[in-house]
Amino acid sequence: MEILKTVDLTVGYGEPLVKDINVSLPERCLLQVLGPNGSGKTTFLKTVLGLLKPLSGKIYFKGVDITSKPDVVSKVFGYVPQIFTPTYFPYPVTVREFVETAYMLYRSGWPRIRASKSVEDKIRSVLELVGLDKSLWDKNIWKLSGGQRQRALIARALVYEPEILVLDEPLAPVDPSGRASIAELIGSLTKQVTVIVSSHDPTILLRYTSYVLLLGNGLYFFGSPDEVLRSEVLKVVYGDLAYAMDKHIHIYDHH
Ligand SMILES: Nc1ncnc2c1ncn2[C@@H]1O[C@H](COP(=O)(O)OP(=O)(O)OP(=O)(O)O)[C@@H](O)[C@H]1O
Ligand SMILES: [Mg+2]
Repeated sequence: MEILKTVDLTVGYGEPLVKDINVSLPERCLLQVLGPNGSGKTTFLKTVLGLLKPLSGKIYFKGVDITSKPDVVSKVFGYVPQIFTPTYFPYPVTVREFVETAYMLYRSGWPRIRASKSVEDKIRSVLELVGLDKSLWDKNIWKLSGGQRQRALIARALVYEPEILVLDEPLAPVDPSGRASIAELIGSLTKQVTVIVSSHDPTILLRYTSYVLLLGNGLYFFGSPDEVLRSEVLKVVYGDLAYAMDKHIHIYDHH
């Protein structure tokens, strides 16, 4: 059975942005959500996460209707939003505290004053899983590089033991030189969790990608990378910014 399914899901703010989206994902796959700025990637993700109400349609988790059921949704999804800056979260906090606070909230409803051994084990296991060097665990999260901070954000989302991890443009705040290794981490997470990730460049995560949802001009295309990442399809959304050369897809979509 599919882990996530949308049926005729229409997303938008009053006016529909993309209509009647039908996608279906098996467990432990990676879905890339692609499309130009403003095409509705974040809107789609927030709707699936229950943070926005769909204009119409349904969302199913393992066959159960979770449309507008935030209590169920919050147990199922982990989420790393697109923008995470000091403006939103200005406090100096170490990586360890940042992840631990989330875990304590998850476990007991309130952070406790002292961490128990099992809490320490849990924090260690997620920080190791995301490949953050131990020397960074007690550093202020705002003093990390974009890539290191992204790993800390993923670690925090993983303490909730989600079945579906949603990452909205995780590669955008990362230096081009660090993107391949974050992509490798994201790809490796599909061993334990279904991953939905939005991006502006399909190529970096392509080798880990099972499905692509391409949004643009109010349309959507869903299928395997081979089905969707074809020049005829990309041209509908990106116009002359996209062309295929041999098997390589090029999109001049700079962010
Ligand atoms: N809260 C809101 N109220 C009304 N319209 C909104 C709201 N948030 C976004 N929009 C509009 O909805 C459209 C889609 O926005 P969305 O953020 O989903 O795009 P996106 O594909 O994630 O873009 P980007 O690549 O820039 O992240 C845009 O035209 C945007 O202006
Ligand atoms: Mg967005």
